[in-house]
Amino acid sequence: MTGIRELLLSRIRDVADYPEPGVMFKDITPLLADPAAFAALSDVLADIARATGATKVVGLEARGFILGAPVAVRAGLGFIPVRKAGKLPGATLSQAYDLEYGSAEIEVHAEDLTTADRVLVVDDVLATGGTAEASVQLIRRAGAEVAGLAVLMELGFLGGRARLEPALAGAPLEAL
Ligand code: PRP
Repeated sequence: MTGIRELLLSRIRDVADYPEPGVMFKDITPLLADPAAFAALSDVLADIARATGATKVVGLEARGFILGAPVAVRAGLGFIPVRKAGKLPGATLSQAYDLEYGSAEIEVHAEDLTTADRVLVVDDVLATGGTAEASVQLIRRAGAEVAGLAVLMELGFLGGRARLEPALAGAPLEAL
């Protein structure tokens, strides 16, 4: 795991002052472009999916789609997209959450999750935890159980882990 962590870290590019001054953006496109690194990441996340007993993988728009889809395929599980509001054509469940300025809303197709499901949520970054917390609430409202949350990166100084703990209710939060 140490070697994999170093490989993954070496493929994440820091971009200063993007998308606005003072922000250091973590760009994962070099990792995605490296087949060995992308495969290693998918394998580690698929191991987590199996260890948590997940029956479905939920990916959070948009980079959670890229990371979550190969995990679902590798672990032999279905992939469920949680999208920003207004993008899914069928009957949806919606969950609003607060941003620093304003609010946002995410949605899932109601029929995609059942009471029989245990869901692993996959995303690239845990920052304030608002998006992940809303996704956990959405999954529970759909009647499914949350098996865990797996992210490539955790920006610890933003306190997302502490915010998420009550929502996760003991389910694991794995940050690679
Ligand atoms: C980013 C990131 C996470 C979320 C983390 O997505 O991919 O989903 O923010 O932030 P939080 O922990 O403070 O909620 P973004 O909303 O930028 O969407 P994108 O992936 O579609 O660019």
